[in-house]
Amino acid sequence: MSTYVLMKILESAPDRYDRGIRWLTLGRLERAYDRLASHIQEGQRVLDLGCGTGALTLRAAERGARVKGIDVNAQMLEKAEQRARGAGFTATIEFSEMGVAELGNEPSESYDVVMSGLCFSELTEDELTYTLDEVKRILKPGGLLLVADEANPESLPKRMLARLIRCPLAVITYLLTQTTTRAIDQLPERLQEKGFSILSIRRSRLEDFIEIVSRKPRGIQDE
Ligand SMILES: C[S@@+](CC[C@H](N)C(=O)[O-])C[C@H]1O[C@@H](n2cnc3c(N)ncnc32)[C@H](O)[C@@H]1O
Repeated sequence: MSTYVLMKILESAPDRYDRGIRWLTLGRLERAYDRLASHIQEGQRVLDLGCGTGALTLRAAERGARVKGIDVNAQMLEKAEQRARGAGFTATIEFSEMGVAELGNEPSESYDVVMSGLCFSELTEDELTYTLDEVKRILKPGGLLLVADEANPESLPKRMLARLIRCPLAVITYLLTQTTTRAIDQLPERLQEKGFSILSIRRSRLEDFIEIVSRKPRGIQDE
């Protein structure tokens, strides 16, 4: 849904973020996150990039994983911490106020799963390239990268329709927040270029939202 660009407005009011995003996406985002989280197994080490109020972080903890959620927005993290405390996950979830630019501090091959929900679309092109390289480094061989985000449709008619819907919403968002998001171009291809294999792709009907399950190669024979 091209309305994802409005999430930037919701981020300035973390108390209303969860309700707002549910309303904006008619519950579709929740279902996408449930599908992605179903790939997580008990005892795994999981990193949630741009965890916000913890939608994916908590799902991973519910599946028995040890999770680290990182975000640059302290207010969103505060809300996530409250939710984690309320759900009794303080022992298995750690939150850290840090940006993807600091991923270089994470040890190599230390995570079984890295996830990103609606965060890649908030990164600059350089940040996204750096993040994908770092994710590949910090994932264990055979580790999973799970992504759900705004995407640029592949077909021209859908691309034009998505732009038509998105453009006025992006202007409103920019006027209110002085920022915007960027629908991601060709993410599956970019992941493959980095050496990830794509296990599954699911697109919305307008192709402006994508869910990807991808895997880092297990070894040289997989590359
Ligand atoms: C739309 S919200 C999604 C939050 C959460 N993943 C969810 O789906 O509910 C995007 C989040 O990415 C965070 N973010 C944006 N740029 C970031 C960066 N460079 N490093 C880490 N987090 C970032 C924002 O602060 C925001 O909380």
